[in-house]
Amino acid sequence: HKQLTIGLFGFGVVGEGIYRVLNQTPSLYASIKKVCIKHPDKKRDAPAALFTTNYDELLNDEEINLIVELIDDADEAYKIVTTAFRKGKSVISANKKMIAEHLQELIQLQQEHNVSFLYEAAVCGSIPVVRNLEEYFDNDLLQSISGIVNGSTNFILTQVADGASYSEALLEAQQKGFAESNPSLDVEGFDATNKLTILLAHAYGILTEPASLLRQGITRLHAKDAAYASEKGLKIKLVAQARKLSSGKVAAFVLPQFVKADSQLFNVNNEYNGVIIESKLADKQFFYGKGAGRYPTSSAVTSDISAFGYHYQYEYKKLNRKEKNALTNDFYLDV
Ligand code: HSE
Repeated sequence: HKQLTIGLFGFGVVGEGIYRVLNQTPSLYASIKKVCIKHPDKKRDAPAALFTTNYDELLNDEEINLIVELIDDADEAYKIVTTAFRKGKSVISANKKMIAEHLQELIQLQQEHNVSFLYEAAVCGSIPVVRNLEEYFDNDLLQSISGIVNGSTNFILTQVADGASYSEALLEAQQKGFAESNPSLDVEGFDATNKLTILLAHAYGILTEPASLLRQGITRLHAKDAAYASEKGLKIKLVAQARKLSSGKVAAFVLPQFVKADSQLFNVNNEYNGVIIESKLADKQFFYGKGAGRYPTSSAVTSDISAFGYHYQYEYKKLNRKEKNALTNDFYLDV
């Protein structure tokens, strides 16, 4: 196991979380040399000498062999990650928006520069769903993925079903560090389509744009929908789904759905996420865990750090099945 010297970008909900975790977890053989932040005057519970506002201090440091990118701004994150690759540095990122919007290019660049790029924390927080999908990648047996992949909307839907108001519930999701700094990314379903885009790549080798997926968030739900759900013993969940059709094409969308009590998704509440993976041989598998928040997300980042530390050059399997699995926007009727 090599000693990892990390350059960390961002010291927000997750960045500070991973800083604390690494300080208390010597078994990860990883330490943070420098943290790049945007606002130097904010009060932070860490030595001042650790911080800089200059990207290059991290990206040009020969000793830093791993960049952990945990900033909010997807465009800045894109610049950081592509520069790191060009400088031969491996990257761990949790920036689902940036990853989903540039996945094809990032994978190409990663391969050109022969570096690692891991992003388990970008999808479903603590649940190792990306690595699990890798297990199916070569066998073409995956039939569907169906999941609650956004903690904030699930928190809101749970609280509203229990009698809270929408705005109270949204405020609480923000205060608890679940929501995006622009929460319309959560409630309009953008965050879920970003995550579904990443899942499609790892499940089916489909590299597509998040904007090309059918998307409906939770903002158009009405009190009548909630009343109907409660009367019929159903729950409303924002579900991200991809399914291989008999044509061989894959249909994918993010939509609010009425979920029945016999579905495993029924009991996925608050900030928890849950994903059902259905394959020809294994039938259904269910993955459940916290999908948002400081430490659940840090948990996935530490899992990437140790994957990288052990293999040093850890790569997700090559995403090269695009020709076999095309995406279709034809809504499927076999649900
Ligand atoms: N805003 C995201 C969510 C954070 O609520 O799921 C975790 O990706």
